[in-house]
Amino acid sequence: MDRNLALEFVRITEAAAMACARHMGRGDETAADQAAVDAMRKAFDRINVDGEVVIGEGERDEAPMLYIGEKVGNITESSPAIDIALDPLEGTTICAKGGVGALSVIAVAEKGHFLHAPDTYMDKLACGPECFGKLSLEYSPTKNIQIASVCLDKPVKDITVVILDRPRHEKLIAEVRETGARIQLINDGDVSAGVAACFPRNGIDILMGTGGAPEGVITAAALKCMGGDFFGRLNFRNEEEKKRATEMGVTDLNKIYSRDELAKGDVMFCATGVTDGPMLKGVRTLPGNCCSTHSLVLRSKTGTQRFVQSQHNLNFKTDGFSK
Ligand code: FBP
Repeated sequence: MDRNLALEFVRITEAAAMACARHMGRGDETAADQAAVDAMRKAFDRINVDGEVVIGEGERDEAPMLYIGEKVGNITESSPAIDIALDPLEGTTICAKGGVGALSVIAVAEKGHFLHAPDTYMDKLACGPECFGKLSLEYSPTKNIQIASVCLDKPVKDITVVILDRPRHEKLIAEVRETGARIQLINDGDVSAGVAACFPRNGIDILMGTGGAPEGVITAAALKCMGGDFFGRLNFRNEEEKKRATEMGVTDLNKIYSRDELAKGDVMFCATGVTDGPMLKGVRTLPGNCCSTHSLVLRSKTGTQRFVQSQHNLNFKTDGFSK
């Protein structure tokens, strides 16, 4: 994949982040999500790719735009054929409430290289490069924390585990507390938290627990670019979800997917902060109809981590793009 593509994609996440940030703190999740979806969909028309959404806003009959299977991009003779995993607004509630860690995200791979994850839950384990190849979803949380403590060369009491604050995690939270490790409970946004585990200065060491499966694939792509590790096991709420997974090609419903099984080959990842989070600042409005964005652009091929800080003059833009 052409390296310049990564910088094209960041313009798309910037556009989506700027659009939904206008709804930040207004309490309207639907309006925030819709703004991000509209802006991202329009922005794709400006990029020369032959793209297909494989992780998106849902099935064709439930999402009018950026649905699974939708073709996006401006196709020219030289447009590369790519698969796209996206979430125009990861953390709709966060954005609506003005909370921490809402992002606009896109991950890109060659055709057929992302797991076509159904819209179900996924048991997740994410960690930074120091723990690569050492942790496992087959181990207990206690064992994973003890191993991480050795890999990170710090006592268990200094390990911080991020977990979504949900009743389903009651047992997990109790076990992690029993080890003596610290827990950061988050209300939403496990992509931001998972990616943050790769940056020691963010104070997050491991992500544990169950969240959205599509978000799991996106997180795996980001962690692959940074040398971090990720494991995911689909976690179904009902028979209908199992049926859907089978139709989407999942053969072993209990399989633990490694990072590279979720995101194969060369991948790219772009995220723009919508609200302030552990890695990225959110969109800021500035005087004179301007605003600033803060993004992360990653490529697995080179391992380059690019933080892109942009200032946008909205007088010269429509839909976040130059007129
Ligand atoms: P949305 O952007 O779709 O609102 O997802 C936010 C999120 O918190 C994800 O980060 C997480 O994976 C998932 O929801 C958890 O699902 P649930 O809220 O059902 O526990």
